[in-house]
Amino acid sequence: MHPLTTSFGAAFGLALLVACAPVSMPEPSEGAAFFANNCTSCHGNDGRGQGPASAGLKPKPADLTRLARANGGTFPTARALSYVWGDPAQSHLARVMPQFGGAMADDLVPLEVDGVLTPTPRALAGVLAYLESIQR
Ligand code: HEC
Repeated sequence: MHPLTTSFGAAFGLALLVACAPVSMPEPSEGAAFFANNCTSCHGNDGRGQGPASAGLKPKPADLTRLARANGGTFPTARALSYVWGDPAQSHLARVMPQFGGAMADDLVPLEVDGVLTPTPRALAGVLAYLESIQR
């Protein structure tokens, strides 16, 4: 085979491989950093709701280590996602939860939400993986 054809074939194959490679989903450790930066003021370093800003809040920040327990043992991905990323106009949490979006939405990963692969900002998928990992 002509050397050019071969290298073209190799490059094309590589491009295909990259395009089709499964996206690597964020690990809990990736979400831990995001959680520390954005969530601990209210939810506390351990996620149990005792952050420094929690004192004046009504209702109190949720204990995020009990979400699965409160949902029959299954981590409630869809519910947690909508709390953090929900449309403020539709969410009763609009009052307390910070809004995330903007540039974050440029880096999407296919998160499974209620059995459906849903394009979700990688940072939020990471924080959900982290939350799932701290359930007790
Ligand atoms: C300004 C304070 C504040 C910050 C910052 C904050 N939260 Fe919350 N969060 C709350 C409060 C208060 C509640 C409980 C309100 C309610 O249930 O109506 C809550 C509830 C939640 C819930 C719902 C729990 C349930 O009942 O299912 C999730 C999930 C959650 N927060 C995740 C996060 C994550 C992840 C972050 C960081 C990205 C974050 N929160 C940052 C105050 C905060």
